[in-house]
Amino acid sequence: MDTDGVIPLSARNLTKLFHQGDHVVEALKNVSLEIQRGSFVAVMGPSGSGKSTLMHLMAGLTRCDEGEILVDGQDISQMNDGRLTHFRREKIGLVFQSFNLIPTLTAEDNITLPLFASGRTGDVKESLDKLLDRLGIAARRKHRPDALSGGEQQRVAIARALITDPAIVLADEPTGSLDTTTGKGICQILSELCTEQQRTIVVVTHEPAVAIWAKRVIVLKDGHMIDDFETAQFPDALSLATHYQNALDASEAAV
Ligand SMILES: Nc1ncnc2c1ncn2[C@@H]1O[C@H](COP(=O)(O)OP(=O)(O)OP(=O)(O)O)[C@@H](O)[C@H]1O
Ligand SMILES: [Mg+2]
Repeated sequence: MDTDGVIPLSARNLTKLFHQGDHVVEALKNVSLEIQRGSFVAVMGPSGSGKSTLMHLMAGLTRCDEGEILVDGQDISQMNDGRLTHFRREKIGLVFQSFNLIPTLTAEDNITLPLFASGRTGDVKESLDKLLDRLGIAARRKHRPDALSGGEQQRVAIARALITDPAIVLADEPTGSLDTTTGKGICQILSELCTEQQRTIVVVTHEPAVAIWAKRVIVLKDGHMIDDFETAQFPDALSLATHYQNALDASEAAV
């Protein structure tokens, strides 16, 4: 993992349009932001506000219509598809709400899959054992996803995102299908990845109880970034929720 002074994620004037027949959806409009190394950032916003679109652009899974995205100082909008795929495998770990595990593979085979995809098969066992221990799923390593709880499946998915030692982890509603207690455990793991390992974590969430774990919250609405605040000022999730709701209401009033 790189630890030099380069900003891991930087977006400038990002615009993403989706065309549906004659209709054009402006999923993101002129969004600019910088995310520092080792920070834990939550992206909040109502359904359809552009959260997943922003994540997909930062991961290089979709391309922007205008603007640029620098990942570890490199403009991914200028990369061809092959280079981008390689770059993503090196730099970014992705975690999704629905876990996206392969049902026929054991937990450990799901976790090591990205290594084989990028041709890195040398030191698999050591890094795998470390991750299984770290995430508390060592006893479940030989089980297939259908024999695992939701929380265990998400921990397998996080281990899969980390096996390539990415500098940046992007998670789209990682606790969205988990109960509150299990979701809290996932938040704790993500938070420790920043504090202990200096990874940069961006988490999309609807839940103030998840966002309070982050150091900073970015709020999107109708494709615009309408707020950007530090969480340290809030004693609990409820006060963060109130601030978030006020930001949404203020942007409504401004239209
Ligand atoms: N592939 C697509 N084709 C057409 N429109 C799309 C596509 N992907 C997203 N959109 C539209 O772009 C807007 C932003 O979508 P996005 O998925 O980023 O929202 P979101 O904030 O992640 O919502 P949710 O909280 O429901 O996941 C929405 O209006 C959505 O309908
Ligand atoms: Mg989404």
